[in-house]
Amino acid sequence: MARVAVVGAGAIGGVVASLLQSAGRHELVLCMRRPLKELVVETPAIGLRSDMQHEIRPEMRIEATILTQPEEAQPVDWVVVATKAYDAAGAALWLEWLCGGGAPVAVLQNGVEHRERFASYVAPERIVPVIVDCPAERRPADDAGVERIIQRGTMSLKVPEGTHSRGFVELFSGTAADAATVPDWTTVAWRKLCHNAAGVLPALLLQPAGVLRGEAVGDVALDLVRECVAVGRAMGATLSDAVPEEVLAAYRRSAPDSVNSLHADRLAGRPMEIDARNGVIVRMGKKHGIPTPANSMAVALLQAMTAR
Ligand SMILES: NC(=O)c1ccc[n+]([C@@H]2O[C@H](COP(=O)([O-])OP(=O)(O)OC[C@H]3O[C@@H](n4cnc5c(N)ncnc54)[C@H](OP(=O)(O)O)[C@@H]3O)[C@@H](O)[C@H]2O)c1
Repeated sequence: MARVAVVGAGAIGGVVASLLQSAGRHELVLCMRRPLKELVVETPAIGLRSDMQHEIRPEMRIEATILTQPEEAQPVDWVVVATKAYDAAGAALWLEWLCGGGAPVAVLQNGVEHRERFASYVAPERIVPVIVDCPAERRPADDAGVERIIQRGTMSLKVPEGTHSRGFVELFSGTAADAATVPDWTTVAWRKLCHNAAGVLPALLLQPAGVLRGEAVGDVALDLVRECVAVGRAMGATLSDAVPEEVLAAYRRSAPDSVNSLHADRLAGRPMEIDARNGVIVRMGKKHGIPTPANSMAVALLQAMTAR
């Protein structure tokens, strides 16, 4: 049994809460920045993994202590941060209270700088960076105040090898999550960043994923990903020359009306994870003397368009 605090119960935090609840042995605390009446996680179309024996319920009401003020929090055994990368400073306010007993902090965010983002708040060896894959979205509260999260695929959680990482994976044992340590986390993280790098185009063009089916936009996507591959290699990732074409093919196979989170944030007038997704390619490229003109332009244009 572990007492687990989830900081940021949005799409990913909500799915994590439902998985931990399904384990049947953890005590959950949801750390929110606004009150929550009820949270329900729906898993409408997820098949059972053949190697798993448990049942996936199509709808789960989350049973948890809900806190909205960091100073109300008590030390826990584990903290799972699932805010957007741009909300890291706000999420960190909880850590002083939740980590009083030395709890490790799992960071479930996009990008490759999970440790760096929290290094000034938590000792680096207590941070578990997690690459999360899981199509999930949150819906606004209904008239009864019930918030819903729709999980459309299995949640994959990949962590580097290490003591705390094994503890993190253990939290999910017996659940429907595909949680595992990986020997080369850097490659997993940069491979995912390659996919996310191209996702800036729908956000720039305010058109869903289908816009990458066009030849010219597809060519720009290839440039964005080629730069990410070059910088990722300089950072120690093993990425083949085929990655850009693979990424583009994946976008072209995806539902043409799907909206990625950068695009969704822009539509909603929220901040965007542009620095965590494309800015990092530019910054790390500069550090290693690798030109990144496509990503630099994408970052500059998106920032200029949303600064108005
Ligand atoms: N959704 C996906 O399918 C998906 C897939 C893979 C990776 N990711 C990555 O996972 C991370 C989380 O994404 P998400 O889609 O779950 O985002 P989300 O749905 O926007 O949820 C983020 C949650 O964090 C909360 N939050 C922000 N600041 C907070 C604070 N100071 N204290 C407590 N809660 C706070 C937000 O509160 P409010 O409700 O008040 O805004 C929101 O509930 C991102 O890095 C994203 O890129 C997402």
